[in-house]
Amino acid sequence: MLFAYAVPRVPLRRPEIRWQVGVRAVVYDRYGPPDVLRVAEVPAPSPDANQVLVAVAATSLNLSDWECLRGTPLYARIGGLRAPARRTLGSDIAGRVEAVGSAVTRFRPGDEVYGEIQMGGFAEYAVARQSALAHKPESLTFAEASTIPQAGAIALQGTAGVGEAQRMLINGAGGGSGSFAIQLAKRAGAHVTAVDNAGKLEFMRSLGADEVIDHRSQDFTRGETYDLVLDLVAHRSVFAYRRALARGGRYRCVGGSVSALLRVVTIGAIAGRLTGRRLGLLVVKPGPSHFEPVADLCVSGDLQIHIHGTYRLDEVPRALAEVGEGRALGKVVVDIA
Ligand SMILES: NC(=O)c1ccc[n+]([C@@H]2O[C@H](COP(=O)([O-])OP(=O)(O)OC[C@H]3O[C@@H](n4cnc5c(N)ncnc54)[C@H](OP(=O)(O)O)[C@@H]3O)[C@@H](O)[C@H]2O)c1
Repeated sequence: MLFAYAVPRVPLRRPEIRWQVGVRAVVYDRYGPPDVLRVAEVPAPSPDANQVLVAVAATSLNLSDWECLRGTPLYARIGGLRAPARRTLGSDIAGRVEAVGSAVTRFRPGDEVYGEIQMGGFAEYAVARQSALAHKPESLTFAEASTIPQAGAIALQGTAGVGEAQRMLINGAGGGSGSFAIQLAKRAGAHVTAVDNAGKLEFMRSLGADEVIDHRSQDFTRGETYDLVLDLVAHRSVFAYRRALARGGRYRCVGGSVSALLRVVTIGAIAGRLTGRRLGLLVVKPGPSHFEPVADLCVSGDLQIHIHGTYRLDEVPRALAEVGEGRALGKVVVDIA
């Protein structure tokens, strides 16, 4: 918590005001396993003219946090090849607006918000561009709202265009994005095959998956073919992915090893075109217009939010291991309030 004497009681309209007080945050100084993380007191972040200062109530974890902790795949080191450029991870936050910069028009102190920020979410306070935030629906808790921004945007864009009776396969479907993607694809009327480790098969069935595959015992690229493959963890060759597609089918990867992603955008694009299929990388667009539709479906009860577990700030290392080591069913949340 911010020390009482330092909390401004009026909106922070003047961005030149800089706070010099400490807040608790989870920090790291080198890439490595979860034990390189520690809770420390850091200077309170200060919003610039277009930013909002948020008292973070909950932050949800994404695989990208684990990747940036480990520094692998290599794209996780963008901005800091040898050491992390940002000391605090955590990009999906929900909380209350504490202060706003002078150019902020959409939010006021006291508003309940959620959104995807550029790291810094494993902390009591974080700053966010106003364009990254949305007003939190009243009926969602902070923990629930925090699960939606990144995973919801990936799932919505990853299932876009899938239609009635089409066959869709989702690889890595038992995690955060996958648990939304299975439900969205089922709502669109698709026949869904969900791939993940054996511990997640029942969970994926409970979300509506028609077929489930344990990736450790079965190679999904040797069997059925699909109209759409959404791959959250690409590692195989483009020829394997092409083999998994029906004629006219589409393969889109979102995450995975750098070499697999590079192969998809180079050889994959050509090999696909030559054989009447499309293989490519899905660059996910962030922001409220991409995650609010998912929140609306959660509010109406058409989508379920699955929270595997809730952890305290000092338990972030353990929470990250749950996600990174493949045990989390759905989303993991850090309750900061
Ligand atoms: N393209 C973009 O613009 C963009 C934007 C944001 C994020 N991303 C990326 O999108 C991905 C999103 O993942 P998420 O947050 O949904 O992850 P998540 O919650 O950790 O889910 C990933 C799931 O994949 C499983 N998995 C791992 N290796 C597998 C394999 N070989 N075959 C099948 N399943 C496997 C994992 O379990 P096990 O480990 O136990 O197998 C886990 O259940 C991340 O890689 C992130 O970096 C991309």
